[in-house]
Amino acid sequence: MHALPLTQPSQPADWIDRLIAEHRPGYGLARPFYMDPAIFERDMERLIRRHWHCLGHESIIPNPGDFELFKLENEAIILTRGMDGVIHAMLNVCRHRGAEVCTKPKGNAKVFVCPYHAWTYANDGTLRAARLMPKDFDRHAHGLKKLHVRVAEGLIFISFAERPLDFDPIAQALRASCGQYGWAEAKVAHRETYELEANWKLAVENYVECYHCGPAHPEYSQTHALEQPAEMIAELNAKMEQRTCALGIDIISKDQWQTSENGQEAIHTFRYALYDGVATGSEDGKPLAPLMGRFTAYDGGVTSIHLGGTSFLVCYADHGMIYRFIPRSVDRCDMELVWLVRRDATEGVDYDLDKLTWLWKVTTEEDKKIIEHTARGVKSHYFEPGPIAPMEYNELRYINWYLEELARA
Ligand code: FES
Ligand SMILES: [Fe+2]
Repeated sequence: MHALPLTQPSQPADWIDRLIAEHRPGYGLARPFYMDPAIFERDMERLIRRHWHCLGHESIIPNPGDFELFKLENEAIILTRGMDGVIHAMLNVCRHRGAEVCTKPKGNAKVFVCPYHAWTYANDGTLRAARLMPKDFDRHAHGLKKLHVRVAEGLIFISFAERPLDFDPIAQALRASCGQYGWAEAKVAHRETYELEANWKLAVENYVECYHCGPAHPEYSQTHALEQPAEMIAELNAKMEQRTCALGIDIISKDQWQTSENGQEAIHTFRYALYDGVATGSEDGKPLAPLMGRFTAYDGGVTSIHLGGTSFLVCYADHGMIYRFIPRSVDRCDMELVWLVRRDATEGVDYDLDKLTWLWKVTTEEDKKIIEHTARGVKSHYFEPGPIAPMEYNELRYINWYLEELARA
């Protein structure tokens, strides 16, 4: 493992600390948090290069030699499955003069040959050959720089940090949630990337609150009750818990939140009920795919997991969703959606791909529009953050967490 610097040399950015100190509790973030390149750089340094990120499900690289390239701001990460089946993540930067060594978005390769001077790397990142170099050249010291990788319940996580945050609490939280839904035995049914002209935080903030679900997501709101008053949600949730219990499944009974105090990863897990009679996240509430994991019947519930700053998971009884937020630059980001089904399910026989993907495609198209409306609105010099509504308690939590992380030297 090559040691990666935890942070870039800090910029003279006292004004950012002042801006954080001036944040008005209970209100949204000020304009520079969405607009200023220096704050974006600090986001990268203190959040992105410090926390864990889910890159996807391991079924995307099932065979030895499989690889896929992932991008995140200026970093390109080669994710590979080595010839021994172990998953590696390394930076796509040649240790000679920095050229990209992997030039294809995905494929299968035993080695990566740099297109510049042909240094040749094995798919676990070790340098195999470097032409015409002196006899005393140390190949072992010039492998591709590697990132920390962990796999839990079939999900691949990477960390850029030299000393990554403890992964054990994440593994435990995933075992208690995705583990019940059999995600380790799932496969990717579909992936879709949405490019947004917006700062990445606007996309995440939108994801974590459902105050907008009623006005912006009529389709989602037909089956999901999150926009309803708290008493009605509590009643639906109690009925859901009874059904889940009757199946002999004990997932998580209430909202659990771990902050990043004491150098931990932020983990938020919670469950919520669909409307009575709704089985899953489909257009008509009817089943979409074979039941997963320990589910022998539909409990009409959803389990949601938020990890760190960019990784979000949604478990239905018959399919799963991974929501990845990918910062690109101060005013651009991507959202990647990944649909999971049981590994032995066959498209066209056990599930209809259009039906499976309908809800979150429609919802994400709508989200893209409202996020970009917001990105244009906050550019105004007259934009002033407003109060966060009670229903946006998760948004408030996210903002507070973000500011704490940004202030953490
Ligand atoms: S930059 Fe890769 S071999 Fe020279
Ligand atoms: Fe939304």
